[in-house]
Amino acid sequence: MKPWKAVLLILFALAVAAAGYGLTLVRRGFSALATPSAIEEFAATTARKIAVPSAYRQLRNPIMPSTENIRAGMEHFSDHCATCHSNDGGGQTLFGKGLYPKPPDLRAAGTQNKSDGELYYTIQNGVRLSAMPAFSEVHTAAQTWRLVLFIRHLPQITAEELNEMKALNPKRQANPANW
Ligand code: HEC
Repeated sequence: MKPWKAVLLILFALAVAAAGYGLTLVRRGFSALATPSAIEEFAATTARKIAVPSAYRQLRNPIMPSTENIRAGMEHFSDHCATCHSNDGGGQTLFGKGLYPKPPDLRAAGTQNKSDGELYYTIQNGVRLSAMPAFSEVHTAAQTWRLVLFIRHLPQITAEELNEMKALNPKRQANPANW
C-alpha cells in the first residue's frame, strides 16, 4: 500500500473512532448531573491550560496578602462566588453540584498549583462552555487580585471565617430551605 493511502486509512479510522465516541457521549444524555469521563476532563483541562496567554501566566499578585486584603476578598467571594463554589471553595452547593462541568475544589492542588496569573485570567475572562462567568466588566483589577489572595487562603480557612461568610452570602443562599 502507498504511504499516503495508509495515512488516509489511519485518519479515516481515527475519524470513525472520534465520531463513535461523540455518539456515545450524546447518547448518554445531556444531564448536568453526570461526571465527565477521564478523556473529556483531560481534553478540557489541556485546552484551558493552552488558552491562558503566557503573559498572564507569569503575572504575580501585586496586592499584599494582608489581613484586610484577604478579608476584602472573602467578603467579595461570599457575595459573588460562593453560590457555585461554596464558602469553603469545595463547590458543594445546589448550583455547584448541578453544573457540568462542576466547579473544581478550589482548595485542591489542581487550583492551588496554578499561578496567580492563571487564576486572575480565569476570574477576569470566565471559562467558555462552562458556568464560570467573566467578571472583568464589573471588577477592578484590584478586586480580582484580592479574590486570588482569598483563593490562596482557602486551604487554611477557619471555622470562624466560614461562619462570618454565612452572614455575607446572598440571602436566599444562606438558607437552603429557600431553594
Ligand atoms: C454560576 C456559577 C459560578 C460562579 C458564580 C462563579 N464560578 Fe468560578 N467556576 C465555575 C465553574 C463551573 C468552574 C469550572 C470551569 C471549568 O471546568 O473549566 C469555575 C472555575 C473557577 C476557577 C478556576 C479554577 C481552576 O482550578 O482552574 C476559578 C479561579 C474560579 N472559578 C473563581 C471564581 C470566583 C473568584 C468567582 C466569583 C467572583 C466565581 N468563580 C464565580 C462556576 C462559577
